Amino acid sequence: MMNENPFEYRLLASGESFIDREQEMKDLLECAKSGQNVTIYSPRRYGKSSLIMEFFHRLSGDMPTVYIDFNRVNSVSELADRVVSGTAGSVFSSFEKGISMVKDTLLSLRPTFAPNESGGVSVSLDLVKTERDLEKALRFPQIVAEKRDIKIVLAMDEFQRINTLNGDRLERLLRSVIQEQDRVTYIFSGSQVNMLREIFECGDRPFFQSTKVMKLGKLPVKPFEDYIMNSFEKTGFEVDEGTVREILELTEGHPMRTKELCFELWNQMRAGERTVSVKDLLDVLITNDLYLEDTWNHINSVLQRRTLEALANHEKPHSHTTIEKYGLKSNSHVQRTMKSLERDGILYEGDIVDPFLRLWIKRRTD
Ligand SMILES: Nc1ncnc2c1ncn2[C@@H]1O[C@H](COP(=O)(O)OP(=O)(O)OP(=O)(O)O)[C@@H](O)[C@H]1O
Ligand SMILES: [Mg+2]
Repeated sequence: MMNENPFEYRLLASGESFIDREQEMKDLLECAKSGQNVTIYSPRRYGKSSLIMEFFHRLSGDMPTVYIDFNRVNSVSELADRVVSGTAGSVFSSFEKGISMVKDTLLSLRPTFAPNESGGVSVSLDLVKTERDLEKALRFPQIVAEKRDIKIVLAMDEFQRINTLNGDRLERLLRSVIQEQDRVTYIFSGSQVNMLREIFECGDRPFFQSTKVMKLGKLPVKPFEDYIMNSFEKTGFEVDEGTVREILELTEGHPMRTKELCFELWNQMRAGERTVSVKDLLDVLITNDLYLEDTWNHINSVLQRRTLEALANHEKPHSHTTIEKYGLKSNSHVQRTMKSLERDGILYEGDIVDPFLRLWIKRRTD
C-alpha cells in the first residue's frame, strides 16, 4: 500500500479532499450572481482560503475569478499589477488578447508584459504613482467585465493587511472604486478578525457595512466524521466510530488540527504500529510542536498567561471564583486581558482558538 496520506493538512483543501461548506458555497454563489460583496471572517486555519479556492474551482468555466493574497502584496503598485494581471489572466484565454485589452485601457500606465506559469499574462504597470493611476488599475476588472458582458469574482485574502500599504487613503479609494463595480463581486477575507471588523464594522471607516458578513465556523461534525472514516477506509485502514469521535473531541473539531492528528494516526498505522492510542499520539504531537512553546513564550503578560490557564481548564474567567483562584485581579482586568488576546488571534469569541495550545497550556498546570 503506497497510498498517499489522505489527511495532508498543510495544503489548501480542494476537490475530493474538500469537506462540506455546502451552505457557504451556496451563499457565495448567490453573492457572485447578484454582485453582493462578501467578507469572510474566522480564526486562523478554519478554512477561509480553502473555501475561496474551492469556490473558484467550482465556478471555473462560468465566471472568471481572481485571487489576490495580500500577504504577497507589498506596495500599492503591486496591488495594481495584481488586479490587472489577475483579471487579464483569468478573462482572456490567449496571451495576445489579454495584452491588447490592457493596452487599450491602461496605456497611460505604460504596461509591460511577461508570460506567467499558467500560460497567462503577467502585467507590470510602470506608472502607478498617483492616486489616479491606481484608480485606473482598480477599475480594470469592471471595464473588462462590461466590454465582454460578463461577471467577475475577485477575492482579496488577508485583506486586513491593506493597513500596512497606504492606510486610510487606499481604503477610501478602493471603497469608492468598488462601489461603482456592479459586474465584479469582491470577497474580502482574513484571519485577523478584529482588524477586519474594524475595517468593515466601524462607522467612520469607508467600508462600513458595505458587504455581507460570513462568519466561518468549524466544520460540521457529521461530514467531518464521514470524511475521516472514508479516508481511512479508502486507503486500506480501519478505524472505529469511537476513535473518530475521540479525535474530534480532542481537537474540538478544529479543521486543521483535526486533520493533523488524523495525518499522524494514518502514518502510525501505515508503519504497522497497532497499539497507538489517539491520546498518546496527540501527546507526542503537542510535545514536538515548537509553535506552541513559541506562542506561549511570546505572551509576556502574567495576567494573559493566567487567563489562558483558566481558559485551558475550562474555567469561566469572569467568575469571582476563577478571578480569585488564578489571581486575575478584577473583572475589568479580565476583560482587558481577553481583548488583547483576541486581538492577537489567540482567543476567539472568548475561548482559546487552537485546541493543541489549550492542551499544551493545560499540561503545564496539571
Ligand atoms: N473544508 C475543508 N475541507 C478539508 N480541509 C479543510 C477545510 N477547511 C480547512 N481545511 C484544512 O485546514 C487547513 C487550513 O485551511 P486554510 O488555510 O484554508 O484556512 P485559513 O482560514 O485560510 O487559514 P489562515 O487564517 O491561516 O489563512 C487546510 O490546509 C486544510 O487542511
Ligand atoms: Mg488563509
